[in-house]
Amino acid sequence: MSRVLLTGATGYIGSHVAVELVNAGYDVIGVDNFSNSTPKVLDGIEKIIGKRIDFMEVDCTDYNAFEKVFEQYPDIEAAIHFAAYKAVGESVAEPLKYFKNNLRSFENLVELMVTKGKGANIVFSSSATVYGQPAMDELPIKEDLPFQPASSPYARTKQIAEGILEDCVRAYTNLNGTILRYFNPIGAHPSAHIGELPNGVPNNLVPFITQTAAGIRECLSVFGNDYNTPDGSCIRDYIYVVDLAKAHVKAVDKMLQEGIRWNVFNLGTGKGLSVLELVNAFIKATGVNLNYRIADRRPGDVEQYWADPAKANAELGWSADTPIEEVLLSAWKWQQKL
Ligand code: UD1
Repeated sequence: MSRVLLTGATGYIGSHVAVELVNAGYDVIGVDNFSNSTPKVLDGIEKIIGKRIDFMEVDCTDYNAFEKVFEQYPDIEAAIHFAAYKAVGESVAEPLKYFKNNLRSFENLVELMVTKGKGANIVFSSSATVYGQPAMDELPIKEDLPFQPASSPYARTKQIAEGILEDCVRAYTNLNGTILRYFNPIGAHPSAHIGELPNGVPNNLVPFITQTAAGIRECLSVFGNDYNTPDGSCIRDYIYVVDLAKAHVKAVDKMLQEGIRWNVFNLGTGKGLSVLELVNAFIKATGVNLNYRIADRRPGDVEQYWADPAKANAELGWSADTPIEEVLLSAWKWQQKL
């Protein structure tokens, strides 16, 4: 079976994708520098799949160190690039940190895949953040919606990296590229052996909810109830991380089997949920009381958006349909384990 390189393999999404790739029969080589994860994630993956994945501790911005992965594993045919910083607020305060890490690592990956890979099929982990705030008549978001100016340096790294891949696919005829634009990934593996490991106070909604329910945080702030939405809180498309991981397997299958040079997919459920709907779904699913209050809007938040996943549904033969209660229960089970 083909070997797939995962950069950021011990991160939140990378670890779930490692499990699904192995389940689908792929050989995996994972790399990570543990800047936002720990070696224990490898144990969690092993508990689920019953074996240790091949792994090297590497900083992908270090070309010479990264090159050694290709020397040791000359059979790499595809790569999925997760290795990146992802805190929007931090990227505003320290843009260079984001450009250096997120872009240098990706340039190195593209160069190494083109020159050293057995095959050069790259899947890039992008985000709905590339679209910015769409107008109401542009919802749900399709892949051909033009980008707005980047709302943060983090968003800019996603836009630039997509452009880097597109230009390189055009120039290097052995290179194929697939862009996956995630909406809001949440939840954890049902085994509770892997999940999201936020560093310090979580920025994202679901880890904040589960930490509040667990008594680690006193109260969840719902950022704004005066938006132009039915209940006034922001709307997002929350996608189960295991469903998301399965889409990566389908994307790799398609690249290897069909040799398609360039493809872009939105990965979401196609349904928008408000912050208050999500909070209520959590209470209903877990039966746990959640202390929350309405707070001011969070600067930089987009009011509402959700995906049109029709292209991924049709062309990848994939859909994200795990019920939200089940997704939130998986997040809660993971929090309890932590
Ligand atoms: C952000 C990024 C996205 C990135 C994702 C994961 C943007 C526009 N979005 O998504 O690209 O992939 O983080 O890192 O850059 N909320 C609360 N209380 C909280 C936390 C959040 O009410 O304590 C609300 C927010 O206002 C928002 C929703 O929950 O409406 C989701 O927030 P969050 O989980 O942080 O994700 P996004 O900001 O949508």
